[in-house]
Amino acid sequence: MRKKIVAGNWKMNMDLTEGLKLAGSIDNYFKEKPLGKAGVILCTPFIHLASVSEILKHGKIALGAQNCASEASGAYTGEVSAWMVKSTGAEYVIIGHSERRTYYHEDDKLLNKKTLLAMNAGLKVIFCCGEVLSEREAKKHFIIVKRQLEEGLFSLTEEQMDNIIVAYEPVWAIGTGLTATPDQAQEMHQYIRTLVKEKYGNDCAKKLPILYGGSCKPSNAAEIFSKPDVDGGLIGGASLKKDDFVSIVEAL
Ligand code: PGA
Repeated sequence: MRKKIVAGNWKMNMDLTEGLKLAGSIDNYFKEKPLGKAGVILCTPFIHLASVSEILKHGKIALGAQNCASEASGAYTGEVSAWMVKSTGAEYVIIGHSERRTYYHEDDKLLNKKTLLAMNAGLKVIFCCGEVLSEREAKKHFIIVKRQLEEGLFSLTEEQMDNIIVAYEPVWAIGTGLTATPDQAQEMHQYIRTLVKEKYGNDCAKKLPILYGGSCKPSNAAEIFSKPDVDGGLIGGASLKKDDFVSIVEAL
């Protein structure tokens, strides 16, 4: 059985006080409720990590960062390394989010480097892929996602793939209110699993959690999660409100 996961991506929202309050309320909620098979991860801004880690310490919720540096250490003013992330108590890091690809020009080669550094630091990676609208309209979405996975991820060993979660996030659905239909999500997730099967074999493909991201909310989560190759979600906007986030987890 593969893991079912809901990960919240807070992006650049919440000051420290607000973030601690949100993390505390989500943690408290799940202290009393069984999580079943679902894994829950909060991906916070860097400066929240150490304090949120204290809050989550005795609970069931895991912690992640949204990025890490492409170098291990040294004179890189303003950067935060994968080892630093790990030292806060975080277990996960998002790599390759479309906002990093677009606004910070992170290409496949750089993302591959970051992924390998994160693995070496002992982090698990939520590796994002997905096409922009013009690529979908030109029916190139499969080619794009294939390239992103081949160049960003497929240099990993089969063993390292155990520490990977893939998130398919069609860029046209992120923060826009537009959601991929459950069938569109399933079609791409199945394709991603086939690519992983061809590269790493059936066992690896069967174990790989593939999350959907892009305007996922309480009203559409259950339908998207009902698809056989959709193993949960990477949630942006709706992860900033405790009630919305917990109902998405409950939909899983
Ligand atoms: P959204 O963002 O849920 O606000 O669309 C998802 C993401 O970017 O991870």
